[in-house]
Amino acid sequence: MNIECRTKVSELLAERYSPYDFSGEEVPSEDIKALLEAARLAPSSYNEQPWKFYVGFKGDNIYNSLLDSLFDSNKTWAAKAPVMIGVTGRRNLSLNGKKNNYTEYDVGQAVAFLTLEAMERDIYLHQMGGFDRNKFAESFNLNEDEKPVVVIALGYKDENNPRRKGRKELKEIVATERNIF
Ligand SMILES: Cc1cc2nc3c(=O)[nH]c(=O)nc-3n(C[C@H](O)[C@H](O)[C@H](O)COP(=O)(O)O)c2cc1C
Repeated sequence: MNIECRTKVSELLAERYSPYDFSGEEVPSEDIKALLEAARLAPSSYNEQPWKFYVGFKGDNIYNSLLDSLFDSNKTWAAKAPVMIGVTGRRNLSLNGKKNNYTEYDVGQAVAFLTLEAMERDIYLHQMGGFDRNKFAESFNLNEDEKPVVVIALGYKDENNPRRKGRKELKEIVATERNIF
C-alpha cells in the first residue's frame, strides 16, 4: 500500500491516502472537534485565517447539501462517508479589503493540518474539487466574499480497498545544487 519512500518520513504521511471506500462507522464528535482544532492552528498569510468549515454528519442538512453539491462521479462513493466537510475561504483581506492572494493556499494548509490530526486517529479524508460551486454557495447562503474551495469526505476506511496513487520522483520536483539524491 505504501508508496516507496526514498528516505524515512513520518508514518502518518507515508500511510495517508484518499480512500474511495469508507466503513460507514460514525466518527465521535470529540475527534471531529480535534481535527477542527488542528486546522485552526495552521499558519496563514497575515494570520487572516480565511477558512470556514461546514461540518455535516450523515443525515443532517449540512451533510445532505454538501453531498448534493458533488459531481455524480464523486457522489457515488462519497455517500458512504459518515462525515462531510465543506471548506470555504474569504477572497479579500479583512485588513484592507484587498484581494487575498493566498486564500486557497491557506485553506489547503489548514486542511493538511486537519488531515494529519485525522491520521493520528485512524481517520481518512478524501478531498474533492469535483462539486458544483453555485449549489454550494446557494445552500449555505454565501456572500460574494466567501469562496467554496473543497469538499471533504471523511471517516474510517474500509480495509478491503487500499489504494495508492503514484508520485513523481524527487528529482522531477526539486531543484538544488547539493547532491542530495
Ligand atoms: C484539491 C483536491 C481536489 C481533489 N478532487 C478530487 C475529486 O473531485 N475526486 C476524487 O476522486 N479525488 C479528488 N482528489 C484526490 C486526489 O485525486 C488524490 O489526492 C491524488 O490522486 C493522490 O492520491 P492519494 O491522496 O490517495 O495519495 C482531490 C485532491 C485534492 C487535494
